[in-house]
Amino acid sequence: MKKRLRELLSEVLPPEDLACVYNSYDIIGDIAVVRLTPASEKYSRAIAEAVMSVHKNVKTMLAQKGPVHGDFRLRRLEWVAGENKTIVVHKECGCTFSVDVAECYFSPRLMHERMRIVEQVRHGEVLVNMFAGLGCFSIIIAKHSNVFRAYSIDVNPVAFRFMRENVRKNGVYGKVIPLLGDAKQVIGNRLAHVADRVLMPLPEKALEYLPTALLALKKSGGLIHYYDFEYANKNESPVERVKSKVVERLYHLDVDFVVQLGRIVRTTGPNRHQVVLDIRVNSYGQKHFAHENVL
Ligand SMILES: C[S@@+](CC[C@H](N)C(=O)[O-])C[C@H]1O[C@@H](n2cnc3c(N)ncnc32)[C@H](O)[C@@H]1O
Repeated sequence: MKKRLRELLSEVLPPEDLACVYNSYDIIGDIAVVRLTPASEKYSRAIAEAVMSVHKNVKTMLAQKGPVHGDFRLRRLEWVAGENKTIVVHKECGCTFSVDVAECYFSPRLMHERMRIVEQVRHGEVLVNMFAGLGCFSIIIAKHSNVFRAYSIDVNPVAFRFMRENVRKNGVYGKVIPLLGDAKQVIGNRLAHVADRVLMPLPEKALEYLPTALLALKKSGGLIHYYDFEYANKNESPVERVKSKVVERLYHLDVDFVVQLGRIVRTTGPNRHQVVLDIRVNSYGQKHFAHENVL
């Protein structure tokens, strides 16, 4: 079990300074990534020592300066302690992933969500992962289910390179098909109406790319796993807020659908949550097909 950072530092930092320390951190392979603020920066060495003293396998500590940013969803990282490196091998759910944490998106906090999807995949399904990164979702699904094919798109050439390497490493060659490019282009050109299931793990662009997800689905319909970020006060439900904007969008696109499930995947900040909706699409009509031409 990972201990919270403030607990680890409670005997090292004055209580008034503990509050400026982010409580959570990521362990990716043998690299620890800790989010530092201007106020907590001066304690970076103490933080590194505390983390490395409880996680004996950690060889490197990197500081994350600021939020994940840009189209490739990257972290701005600075070396703090241990070996100066950003490339690492991470193990999750019986799979092995090589990753450059400075050049590709990777979060170890999605493991339960990845397994939740795996459990739903039926024999012979075709999956389109629109924002596949290193291929974690797709490779874990290919390893633990009888998926027929998982087309896995990413626009970041470095993530694509690692995805290809990870496909080879995990022995899922031919099942997971890495594709480099913008999901709209790739699906429009090569993957229209192929999928039983579409994954959209890019909350920042999910609503914009919803018509493309529909285009990827077979004409007989299928499932879309839609991820989004939403703010909500204590008395509001982030799931309901996401649901209402997605429902409105789907009505506009003339889609016959049911939201089968909505849940919070994780909390990413004060009152800010990552939400997933599982949307069963039964059919979609003329308005959507008209949209296909202008994707
Ligand atoms: C939040 S990450 C998710 C990565 C992966 N699914 C995972 O769980 O580790 C989103 C990914 O989408 C990619 N991306 C961003 N815009 C894209 C686009 N228009 N088409 C395809 N991929 C895109 C980024 O490069 C990034 O790797």
